Amino acid sequence: MTAWTMRRGKPSARASAVVQMRRDRLYDGELILVNKDHPVRRPAQQIVPVPDGILQASRREEPGILLERTCLALLSALLEACGGRTSIAVVSGYRSRAAQERLYATSLRENGADFTAKYVALPGASEHETGLAVDVGLYEGNVDYIRPAFPDRGACGVFKRLAAKYGFVQRYRADKTDRTGIACEPWHFRYVGYPHSVIMEREGLCLEEYTEFLKQYACGETHLYAGEGASLAEIYYVRAEEGDTPVPLPRASGARWRLSGNNKDGFVVTVYDPEGCDRHV
Ligand code: DAL
Ligand code: ZN
Repeated sequence: MTAWTMRRGKPSARASAVVQMRRDRLYDGELILVNKDHPVRRPAQQIVPVPDGILQASRREEPGILLERTCLALLSALLEACGGRTSIAVVSGYRSRAAQERLYATSLRENGADFTAKYVALPGASEHETGLAVDVGLYEGNVDYIRPAFPDRGACGVFKRLAAKYGFVQRYRADKTDRTGIACEPWHFRYVGYPHSVIMEREGLCLEEYTEFLKQYACGETHLYAGEGASLAEIYYVRAEEGDTPVPLPRASGARWRLSGNNKDGFVVTVYDPEGCDRHV
């Protein structure tokens, strides 16, 4: 097993080019924080259908399930790795604002206000509206749409153990309900991308906390390096300005990096080591 490393360090010496980011890019990317205080601000990008070959709990609410393209690719790889292709169903993926409104209204009517506040996000504040969240359930012929079973045993247990390696976190944990405002949901996984998923898991941070945590790694000052073996990703935060924000990005052709807004106040750049992390980008 290769060792996991996480350390602070100086900015790398690689050449960079400054790119001007429009303010509305703050609202895009796999690290956007979505909750009742930080609603979805931009339409979901690159939403594609979950293909045949992945088990889907088809139902009236979501007859054909859609997900953001990278989230779907990594989910597919994760289902393969955990041996869950025949036992774990995708229950819910992308939901339009109108679909979340319908779900919220139906749940209020059928389940009451207390249940709905715990398990259904307000329309506009659901991660499902980004296409980056997926509900998965143990497939036993029948799956509950709002609270699918996702036990610790069998393929579901392996899925949980491997999820972070594939860029996913359990978004709503029992010990974070005060921060997230949502009850424990073992079935709801959020794609944030590797190595952010592993950092969040190892440090015990929910996305509300991780968004703040990353701010200590300000661009040009102290950066965060994280990954397995010698293959470390370099991570830094750039605070958004009122108009365009200058963001330094690697210049070399072939350099692999990701830029995400945080849906709040800044951008996060992740630069992947050219030698590693292939399946994670
Ligand atoms: N079940 C989660 C909180 C949602 O409705 O987005
Ligand atoms: Zn969900």
